[in-house]
Amino acid sequence: MKPALLIIGEITTHMADRFAAAFTCHYLDEIRDTEQFMATSGPTVQAIATTGHDGVPDDLLDGLPALKIISNYGVGYDAINVDKAVSKNILISHTPDVLNEEVATTALMLLMAVSRELIVNDSYIRKGYWSKKGNTPLSRAVDGMSVGILGYGRIGQAIARKLEAFNCQISYHARTERPDSPHRYYDNLTRMADDVTALIVITPGGPSTHHLVNAAVIEALGPEGILVNVARGSVVDENALVAALQNESLGAAGLDVFAAEPHVPEVLFTMDNVVLTPHIGSATIETRRAMGDLTVDNIVQYFSDGQVITPIPECRHLTD
Ligand code: NAP
Ligand code: 8YV
Repeated sequence: MKPALLIIGEITTHMADRFAAAFTCHYLDEIRDTEQFMATSGPTVQAIATTGHDGVPDDLLDGLPALKIISNYGVGYDAINVDKAVSKNILISHTPDVLNEEVATTALMLLMAVSRELIVNDSYIRKGYWSKKGNTPLSRAVDGMSVGILGYGRIGQAIARKLEAFNCQISYHARTERPDSPHRYYDNLTRMADDVTALIVITPGGPSTHHLVNAAVIEALGPEGILVNVARGSVVDENALVAALQNESLGAAGLDVFAAEPHVPEVLFTMDNVVLTPHIGSATIETRRAMGDLTVDNIVQYFSDGQVITPIPECRHLTD
């Protein structure tokens, strides 16, 4: 008998094929009568695969008595109630490292698109303005720019490495200093924002980072400053961000993540100094394949020896 797996959210065909080979798969989106499912198949479900966006609703954590493992298709797991899962000895795995380079590239893409006004320039040609109105105004150089990174973990350090190729002056803020790092550490985020031209946000989401980038940090970046957020929408005070862009106390923004995805404040749609992407930080065929394989491998490994390859830190005590 194959173990029963509940799949929450959108996965790739490759993942679906691999899951089908090893598990009896139930797709939450296809369940019409949840009450009946919980009563009949619920007691058999031992594993959940979910996305970083969907997480696991509390009623499933409470209502699936045989649940042993949650495999998160993504590195960020702020959508899962970790305390509740851990209190029930449910192991949680995620997909660190395999997406570092992609998300770092997305951060640089947004920084460059904003600085060189890529979207505005593209649309200038498409509207037929070049031949009628002449050249567009000069934009800002990324080469040599002073850039602060908020969150200097796996992805933050990948961003720093890529920025080195542009001879940027790189600094970072996190709660812990990395003494071996060649980059300048700030123990105060507002002070770093005051000193840099661009701030790239790449911390985890959740309560401990909620609105870390507040009105004061945004003000400190200033009218020439650029904010890039590839972390989670919750890390930035979105109302303060929109207000600062409207009153031009912040220069520009590149945003991949938002407070209430997939809803984006419509006022941003008309702003030329903003570049928006729909949470595509890791969304390439190559990187999603690697993330998908790790998501599947974690569950396969669990049913082979009770371990997972990449547990979240809060669950390490549940592994050998
Ligand atoms: P990581 O290796 O755990 O790094 C997290 C960094 O944030 C660490 O430097 C940590 O340092 C710092 N940090 C945590 N809490 C902080 C706080 N309160 N104040 C200041 N710094 C804090 O994580 P990662 O693998 O780089 O991933 C980071 C996050 O990126 C994920 O959790 C996810 O939310 C986001 N992400 C987004 C996308 C996307 O598609 N846009 C894709 C992948 C990941 P200290 O602990 O020393 O403070
Ligand atoms: C994905 C992410 O959008 O890994 C993360 O934390 O935000 C992204 O890679 C998402 O988790 C895919 O499910």
